[in-house]
Amino acid sequence: MPTTPSIQANSSRYDDFFKRLVWQKDRMLLDDLVFRLQHFRDDSSWDLGDQCFVYFKVKGLVDSYAKFLKTRPGFAPRHIFELGLWEGGSVPFWFELFRPAKHIGVDISDREDSPYFRKYIEDRSLQQQIKTYWRTDQSDRNRLLEIVRDDFEGNLDLVIDDASHYYSLTRASFETLFPLLRPGGLYIIEDWAWEHWPGHVDPAWPKAERLGRLVHELIGLAGSSKDIISEVIVYQGFTVAVRGEKPSKELASFNKELASFNPDNFIYRQPDPVVEPALDAHVVKLEQDRRELLEYVRKVEEDRQELLDYVRKVEQDRQLKLEEYTRVSRRLQALEHTNTVRLSRRLATLLHRARGKLKLP
Ligand SMILES: C[S@@+](CC[C@H](N)C(=O)[O-])C[C@H]1O[C@@H](n2cnc3c(N)ncnc32)[C@H](O)[C@@H]1O
Repeated sequence: MPTTPSIQANSSRYDDFFKRLVWQKDRMLLDDLVFRLQHFRDDSSWDLGDQCFVYFKVKGLVDSYAKFLKTRPGFAPRHIFELGLWEGGSVPFWFELFRPAKHIGVDISDREDSPYFRKYIEDRSLQQQIKTYWRTDQSDRNRLLEIVRDDFEGNLDLVIDDASHYYSLTRASFETLFPLLRPGGLYIIEDWAWEHWPGHVDPAWPKAERLGRLVHELIGLAGSSKDIISEVIVYQGFTVAVRGEKPSKELASFNKELASFNPDNFIYRQPDPVVEPALDAHVVKLEQDRRELLEYVRKVEEDRQELLDYVRKVEQDRQLKLEEYTRVSRRLQALEHTNTVRLSRRLATLLHRARGKLKLP
């Protein structure tokens, strides 16, 4: 009976692999392989010495990959390019999961493969299938191109970037490697969301390097053209961009100097509304008038205040003068009264004397 799409979506060719993983407190086991978990590393109890890979992922993240792969049951990458290896543990993890023809890993660290890693390669004779490049910067576009040319025949099927997690460096790798993916190939960016994880961000990490910006750009590319990115799938721990059908040569030109794919040239953005020049001049004039009017109103208010002060002063003077006038007029009245009394007494005295001299009765 043919498998229905819904049943397909609930199972994957990788289910058995994920079922084989045994999770213990500080390690993940895959058959005879031991992956010590960096998140639970405790030097005092690190008793396995070199007898393990060191793996910089947690169960939740691996579970998300299992869930994601259920949605792509047919995905079987033959050519894998991995950026960011830590101590190398993710290389055997991806290799055992996908069994590709070639898995290349690069890392900027100045180190070599661990003894356990070398033994793994030797015991299984994987020298032709797995290769690591240490001291390799993910933003060294020429070097990445060289490695792809030297180690792969044909396009890439899967890129997994778990390296710097800085925007500029991650974008440099993306610009270089994304055009080299085959249509339907996957470009995975791990830990893209560090800026959204409380307590995770070191305040010294530059704001301009937050990686969410690149995911927004991937969405912008997908929105602009499904031929460039046909899907963007976002998990908390990683984002997947699915390569569209657009031929590489239409995305970028490649030479030894530079891979010239620039996502900005392909993201369509609605232009800002155009403001008519005449309307613009009118708005400027109106704004000028508004300012002048405001200045005029301010001056009128100043004059009004001055006038009010003057009226207040005049009123004060009037009061003072009125009070003085009242005082003087009272004194005058009093004086007049005193003088009248004195005059009439004097007249009476004179009259009395005159009568006496004239011997009048
Ligand atoms: C989170 S670890 C990788 C973990 C590994 N994928 C795993 O799952 O075990 C990040 C690695 O990226 C490397 N790295 C940091 N900046 C880099 C750069 N500019 N180019 C290449 N690798 C870089 C670091 O040296 C480190 O080993």
